[in-house]
Amino acid sequence: MANVIAVDGPSGAGKSSVSRIVGKRLGYLHVDSGALYRIMTWRCLECGVDTDDEAAVAAFAGGVEIECRVEDGHIAYYVGGEAPGERIRTPQINAHASKVAKVKEVRDCITALLRGMSGYGNLIIEGRDITSAVFPDSPARFYLTASAEARARRRRKEEVEKGIANQSEEAVKASLLARDAIDSTRKHAPLVKVDGVVEIDSSDMTLEEVVQAVVDALPEGWKAAE
Ligand code: DC
Repeated sequence: MANVIAVDGPSGAGKSSVSRIVGKRLGYLHVDSGALYRIMTWRCLECGVDTDDEAAVAAFAGGVEIECRVEDGHIAYYVGGEAPGERIRTPQINAHASKVAKVKEVRDCITALLRGMSGYGNLIIEGRDITSAVFPDSPARFYLTASAEARARRRRKEEVEKGIANQSEEAVKASLLARDAIDSTRKHAPLVKVDGVVEIDSSDMTLEEVVQAVVDALPEGWKAAE
């Protein structure tokens, strides 16, 4: 059985950067589960599925085929042979993703896909329900958080650097708080800090400090590649 490091937390807490670096350091594949919810959202919008209509989203979800490939230290996703790239990172996708992520059928498809990935080897998976629902028995579970201001600042910087958008910090903050509210209050697998997780507040920590805190808290024998 592969080792699975599970990392949950709200938007912009630094989960992706931390998981990517820890994965690289230990030789674990990085898995971005949020990208799968974003792909579902992108396909809904491309195909004219109303994201407020849960029954329509549920019926559509089962037909979306997402191919997973191991590439350069992470699991990459393809739809119809094409990588979605930055098309799933736009403010429009941000605005619709948490509605799509509420739908049980969407969550069931993605949870099954994620569980199947342990066949590829050791993983570090980031998301919202990895510690609570997808791999709740992992002995390495983390809840990464930061103040809303720090999270908005980081997210905005990322969007500007990647040329995705140039919104004000206030607009980015409002968008991520709206998403967090839906993600934390939904019926199926909401974002929660469950018992037994290691909580790290990264507001005043450097990326390297957070990476080290994660590595330090891993079970003995999981740090072999260090
Ligand atoms: O991490 P992200 O911003 O890329 O996530 C996109 C959306 O998917 C966001 O609304 C949270 C949701 N999500 C989820 O419900 N469960 C996960 N395991 C990962 C993301």
